Amino acid sequence: MKILVTGGAGFIGVNFVYYMLEKYADYDIVCLDALTYAGNLKSLDGAMDNPKFTFVKGSISDKDFVDKLFEKEKFDIVVNFAAESHVDRSIENPFIFLETNIMGTACLLEASKKYGVSRYHQVSTDEVYGDLPLDRPDLFFTEETPIHTSSPYSSSKASADLLCLAFNRTYGLPVTISRCSNNYGPYQFPEKLIPLMIVRAQENQSLPVYGEGLNVRDWLYVEDHCKAIDMIIHNGRVGEVYNVGGHNEKQNIEVVRTLLKALGKSESLITYVKDRAGHDLRYAIDPTKISTELGWLPETKFEDGMERTIRWYLDNKQWTDDIKSGEYAEYSRRVYGD
Ligand code: NAD
Ligand code: DAU
Repeated sequence: MKILVTGGAGFIGVNFVYYMLEKYADYDIVCLDALTYAGNLKSLDGAMDNPKFTFVKGSISDKDFVDKLFEKEKFDIVVNFAAESHVDRSIENPFIFLETNIMGTACLLEASKKYGVSRYHQVSTDEVYGDLPLDRPDLFFTEETPIHTSSPYSSSKASADLLCLAFNRTYGLPVTISRCSNNYGPYQFPEKLIPLMIVRAQENQSLPVYGEGLNVRDWLYVEDHCKAIDMIIHNGRVGEVYNVGGHNEKQNIEVVRTLLKALGKSESLITYVKDRAGHDLRYAIDPTKISTELGWLPETKFEDGMERTIRWYLDNKQWTDDIKSGEYAEYSRRVYGD
């Protein structure tokens, strides 16, 4: 079995590469990544010496390059993680999101069709459903919830999902889609809430909480997401969408306070800043379909996952220090003024 993992030098992709190499010692894993600001080859250090792992640098939007790679490698399964993934950056500049997330997906779908892969899996997001009100805790996203996007990021991901479903219906490409809630864990780029707060708190920098910090996200430990994708690519029904999430809703301010407590830092670091434009209020996944059909259940409790995550960032300070010396410094100055 040969699997193409795109975006495998990013947060979830890296975790998925390690998960698959460990679980399926006889699978060949090829990682295709453009190494944008979010991709980090160092994160793959632990895979580079594995004879079943190959890294290829390139863009999913480069149609000719993708075609040649598929012709050469004859993949059985494609799992597409590659994307521009940060909502705030999509608000600053939407165009690269359209290029990578829509056109890149189209290039992969076209090559998957041409070379007859047995499964194309699209890693999508719960953000395609828009948001839920804060005062209706009884409401959840199901696979039937209409697409209703808020940001250029979520719009680009929704477009990609629709392309995937079109390739399934029109050309019979064996496609599956997963729509997951917010992930946390090792190797997440420190522009996202949890690693951003860990890294800034360590430096005693202010912690920028958008609005009043009351927006709700449904947090899932990254390994549980990897397990869900593994189950879907092996046993999921072709043409289907599976929501992934573990009923673990938290207000942003609650998450930040938990982190500060665990790090032994003062809540005086919290600074309420201007809200994100179009800020989605609440995400909450109903995982009934994947649980009943495939037997998937989240296994990591939030307290344990947070402890492992914080420990990883404390033990791998060099990883974040290297990031901070690059493009991130400019981003930090622009967005947080420091
Ligand atoms: P990330 O930003 O950490 O990593 C993205 C990776 O894609 C990077 O390695 C980057 O170099 C690579 N990449 C970007 N453009 C590329 C291109 N043109 N060609 C090849 N590689 C390219 O993202 P992440 O948080 O790991 O998210 C991975 C996927 O999961 C995304 O599709 C995202 O939409 C989805 N997702 C993320 C979350 C989350 O909470 N992080 C939740 C649900 C779904
Ligand atoms: O739900 C899945 C999505 O989760 C993925 O599709 C996206 O790729 C991923 O980035 C994530 O999107 P969010 O916008 O929810 O994640 P982020 O970490 O950027 O923000 C989480 C919440 O924290 C959100 O309500 C905004 C808030 N926030 C974020 C940052 C970066 C702050 O209050 N302050 C901040 O500095």
